[in-house]
Parts: sequence; C-alpha cells; structure tokens
Amino acid sequence: MMYETVIKGGTCVTASETFVADIGINKGRIAALGADLDGADIIDARDRLVMPGGIEAHAHIAQNSATGGMTADDYTSGSISAAFGGNSCIIPFAAQHRGMGVTETLDLYDSRAQGASVLDYSYHLIVSDPTEKVLTEELPAAFKRGITSFKLFMTYDKMLVNDEQFLEVLTVAKEHGALTMVHAENAGMIKWMTDRLLARGLKAPKYHALSHPALAEEEAIHRAICMAKLVDAPLLIVHVSTPQGAALVQNARHAGAKIYGETCPQYLFLTRDDMDKPGMEGAALMCSPPLRDTATQEVLWTHIQSGTFDVVSSDHSPYRMDDTGKLANGPDAPFTVIANGMPGIGARLPMLFSEGVGKGRISLNDFVALSSTNAARLYGLLPQKGTLTVGADGDIAIWDPSAKGVISVDNQNDACDYSPFEGWQVTGLPMTVLSRGKRVIENGKLLAKPDHGQFLPRAKFDSSGRAGYRAPELDPAQNFGANIAP
Ligand code: URP
Ligand code: ZN
Ligand code: ZN
Repeated sequence: MMYETVIKGGTCVTASETFVADIGINKGRIAALGADLDGADIIDARDRLVMPGGIEAHAHIAQNSATGGMTADDYTSGSISAAFGGNSCIIPFAAQHRGMGVTETLDLYDSRAQGASVLDYSYHLIVSDPTEKVLTEELPAAFKRGITSFKLFMTYDKMLVNDEQFLEVLTVAKEHGALTMVHAENAGMIKWMTDRLLARGLKAPKYHALSHPALAEEEAIHRAICMAKLVDAPLLIVHVSTPQGAALVQNARHAGAKIYGETCPQYLFLTRDDMDKPGMEGAALMCSPPLRDTATQEVLWTHIQSGTFDVVSSDHSPYRMDDTGKLANGPDAPFTVIANGMPGIGARLPMLFSEGVGKGRISLNDFVALSSTNAARLYGLLPQKGTLTVGADGDIAIWDPSAKGVISVDNQNDACDYSPFEGWQVTGLPMTVLSRGKRVIENGKLLAKPDHGQFLPRAKFDSSGRAGYRAPELDPAQNFGANIAP
C-alpha cells in the first residue's frame, strides 16, 4: 500500500502514549500507524516528536474589543502565527455586542474568517445580550450551526451579564449540549478599586493590575461555580490566574461537578512587577485577569500537574503599542481606556514545551493533553482533531525537541509589534505543521494559502465521567415534586 504522505520513524506522542511508528496519510486523514509504511511523499521524522497539532482554544482574532478597538490580527496573520507556533487548529471568539443578534454576529465572523485562515477554525460565541429571542431562537440556531461553546463575562460594563442571565444561558447551553465558558471577575470590586486608584492620580498601566484584585477573581469563580452547580450545567473557568481560583476549580471537580479549568502562559511566566516600566510601556502587559506574582506561578504549576487545568491557552489578544491599539486614547491615557490583552498565540506551545516538558514539570503526554487533546474533547472536536488515530485529520506537528530558539517579536509572525515573552530562550520547537495532511509550515516557511482553513462544525459537549451536582431544591424527591429542574 502506498500512502500519499508518510511521516517516517518519528516518536509519536498522544495524551496517553509514546511510541515509535510511521504515520500514513491519505485524503487528509491518518490512514495507518505502523512500521515500514511506503509513501509518495516521505517526511523524515527520525529524532523528532510527532504530536497532534496544537489547538488554540482561547484567542481574540479580528474581534472588536470591549473598549471599542479591533485586534491587530485578522484570521490570516493570527492563523499563520498559530501555525508557526505548532498549532493546526484555532477556536477564537465571535463577540456578540449589545444590540447585535447572534446570527448576525456569526455571519459577521464568517465573513472575517472564510478564505482567510491557513488553519481550520471554529468560534466560541461571546453572549453579551441574552434577550428572549437569543435564548429561545438564536442560541439553538447557533448550536445547529456547530457552535457548541458560549462565553459569558462577569465584568466589563459593555459585555457583562447578570446572575439571572448567566443562569438562563447555562440552562439553554445544557439543554443543547453546549459548554459555557466564563470570564470570572467581580465587576463591583474592580470599579471600587479603580475609583480609589484614579482618585489618587494612579492611572499608569501597572495600576490596572491592582484594580483587578485576586479576591475579585475568587469571588466570581465561586459564584460562577455555584450557578453552574444549581442547574448542573458544565462550565469552564477560563484564564484562571490565582491560587484561590484554581483551588475552587479543583474542589468542584473533586466533588464531581462539571467544572473545567484553563490557565495561560502569562500567569506562569510573567508577574505584575514586569509592568513597572516608564510611561506607557507597562500597557503591553495589561490584561484581565492581570498578572500576579511569583508565588502564584508556582501554585498554578502544581495545579497543572495535578489536573485542575484541562487546557493551557494563550488568550491571544493582540493590540499594537500604537494608536491603532493600546495607545488609541493617547500617550497619557489612564489604564481604564487602554485595550486589555497581549499577543501569545505563537509563543504558547514553545513556552509550555520548554518550561514544562524541558524543565521536568510535565510529561510529554501532559503537554499533548494540555495543548491539544483536552481542547478537542471540551470543544467537540475529538477524534477528528487532537489525537493520532486512524481516521483523524492529518493535523500533526513535528517537533525537534532539542532545537533552541529565542522568542522575539521578529519570529512570532503575527501583526503585533511586541512579544510579552521577548528574549525568552526556549528548547524544543515545531519544525513542520500539517493540516489535513498538507504542509502548512516547514523549516520556517509558510506553505499554505489563507483559503486552506475550513470552518469546523463541532459536536456536543460530553460531560460523561462527572457525576454532576443535584441541588436539593431542584430535586423532585426533595422539593415537594416541583418540576423546575432544567
Ligand atoms: O485581557 C484580556 N485577556 N483581554 C481579552 C478578553 C478576555 O477577557 O479574555
Ligand atoms: Zn476573558
Ligand atoms: Zn480572552
């Protein structure tokens, strides 16, 4: 049997196994794993690691931000940067702003993504205006379109939903088999801190980090988990940045609740002290939740090791350090009107590999789970993406585990003008990335065109393996038979 493409002699790594095998690919899919496979096109992978391509499941691309600006990256530059960083699939956000319909939002993002991405893509839908029509017609329609994850905000005036709305969305998501994601920070605490800082003239970017106290995250994660438990709906807490927040996720999952967690490289590698720079320089590292401290970093690593976090995502939110981005409101603007977020879609996997696998903090299999397989499972893409199995898409990243590099804005291939990880030395880099069997990246060259990437309709969320939580007040055996459980 002659395969169209054979990846030869590599060490294959999945979320559970490491083994030496050739991989045969036909018609964009893995057709065989075995020894001595013949192929028309041979990729020599001896001394290389052959892993499922990364799935970047938290990125803001071609998205209008809460402060009104547009991210620096569109689907072309964002997907190219992702591919150079070892990813073969991206799931950015489609943001519904108040007054917009959900169908209108998804159509808009289709027009931004179609024919523009070098990688396959889907979107999580940000819901900021859960009207009756959205809840009863448009979310079910989005679900039929294959959008099976929604994100809610508990902060940002223009995006946040109240607790009742939160429960309504959780209920609709549960009914249709979707996963709700949440940005959990207490809006009132942030406003109170912000007012006190500004009243004292403390408006430099570094004060943004103080305006979002760890307690604001802790309170909101606790509230979000309680709401998810009340309706027994699955909930993913995104970008967890504090030990207290991580402990809440850990406790909920140990108790069997359908609670899942994500953290991001910036909380592992940077601290708010890095924002203590002259002028507006600190704005480059302004994000929400904000950077914390070194003690936090160590605790977050232990949560990665012990399974609290399902995914490590970049939260790529690229705004240039000029008047198109961070400085849109002038060079003296207070932190309240500076766009939140930082780039990182290209650096996520090299940083996680080098600092995680290279430093013995996580195994190779953990790396695959955290960077690809768990995202595929959470977001309804397994086994099409996120694993090396017969029938899966030929979405494969071939890494040289001993290649050395330095992270720099010059090698991120995105549209931003800085990297938060500038100068960071890494060992282990992706050399070749295949998407549906086609080379997208090889030896530093881009080989795919922006019309290669296809929209991925996603399957239902599967929460099997979690007992869930039954609130007594919603349990017909304990609530006088009131039939009110979703
Ligand atoms: O500061 C960040 N991360 N901005 C992006 C939007 C979000 O909340 O994820
Ligand atoms: Zn967020
Ligand atoms: Zn985000």
